Amino acid sequence: MADTSSLNDRVFAMLHQRTNRLAPGDTIAEPLISSSMYHLPDQPHPDRVYGRIANPTVQAAEARLATLEDARTLLFPSGMGAYGAVAMAVLAAGDKVLLPSDGYYAARNLMSQVLAPFGVNMETCAAADMATVPLDGYRLVIIETPTNPHLDIIDIAALAARCHAAGALLAVDNTVCTPLLQQPLDLGADIVIASDTKAAAGHSDVLMGHVSCRDDAIMDKVHAVRSLAGGIPGPFEAWLLLRGLETLDVRLERMCANATALAPILRDHRAVNSLIYPTASAQMAHAGFLLGASFADQAAGERFIKAAEFVPATSFGGVHSSADRRARWGDEVSGGFLRLSIGCEPQAQLIAAVRRGLEAA
Ligand SMILES: Cc1ncc(COP(=O)(O)O)c(C=O)c1O
Repeated sequence: MADTSSLNDRVFAMLHQRTNRLAPGDTIAEPLISSSMYHLPDQPHPDRVYGRIANPTVQAAEARLATLEDARTLLFPSGMGAYGAVAMAVLAAGDKVLLPSDGYYAARNLMSQVLAPFGVNMETCAAADMATVPLDGYRLVIIETPTNPHLDIIDIAALAARCHAAGALLAVDNTVCTPLLQQPLDLGADIVIASDTKAAAGHSDVLMGHVSCRDDAIMDKVHAVRSLAGGIPGPFEAWLLLRGLETLDVRLERMCANATALAPILRDHRAVNSLIYPTASAQMAHAGFLLGASFADQAAGERFIKAAEFVPATSFGGVHSSADRRARWGDEVSGGFLRLSIGCEPQAQLIAAVRRGLEAA
């Protein structure tokens, strides 16, 4: 399991980031500042020149994430905005990029539908084959671990070493884990991409994404892409994320504990043909809060969702337990496969609801 003490140091620093430097009368809560223009005297502030370049509330949320990631961080209005910025910053015409064939489908669609006309060549391989696939000739390898929706684990340190030996950059989509359950940069990855729409913001009320990286040249390009393509989030959305980040640690603790308690109950019930719950590998602080449960068919899955009082929704990481029937989106899974995102409900009541769902399924 990952070393959680240094992660806790980062959480502590993140929580005290504003309060440590307050003057008498300052607000404890981060102010929500909405302004497209800045006062520009003879000697202007270096980056607060115009709202598309920087915003104080967005920067405050970025600073919190930078502490958790221990890396320079830029926010985007969605996780896909972060993917697009990394692709535009790192790839050029003729470059090859490798993605998992069984990962989040929109990442592949971005490459094949949007970037292919600009000369970017996408290739894919199964996440399980990332450990052995030859990497020569790739400029960028993007993975998720655990993968979504199969929850396979890829060894980040081993893949980073192979990427670097082949001259490729490794970007890790860390959406499922968040920086509190997994630190791809510490494990040797070059870039973190994340959808903060999920657990990081955590209340199902905002879209947001971020890019973190310890290489200034790459981050300068990511920032240029954001400023010039115009993909900066609004201050209110950044403020919602900032608020979510302050409770991420405690929410994750409850969600992960609930998932750990539910996994054997689901696995052992006759209504569930198979259950995926990753074993926390050395690179993860915990196995997380996502479960993949296969019911007999679509109808059985739907009966479970209703009787267990899970929210039927795509996306994950919110405070309410939710379920997504992934075949609906074209993932290569059976019609009865549900990705379950376990929420913050009190454990005894949640277990009772899940037992009701299993009996109904
Ligand atoms: C693993 C993963 N990465 C990226 C994204 C994209 O994030 P967003 O919806 O915030 O653009 C998602 C969304 O479901 C996701 O599951």
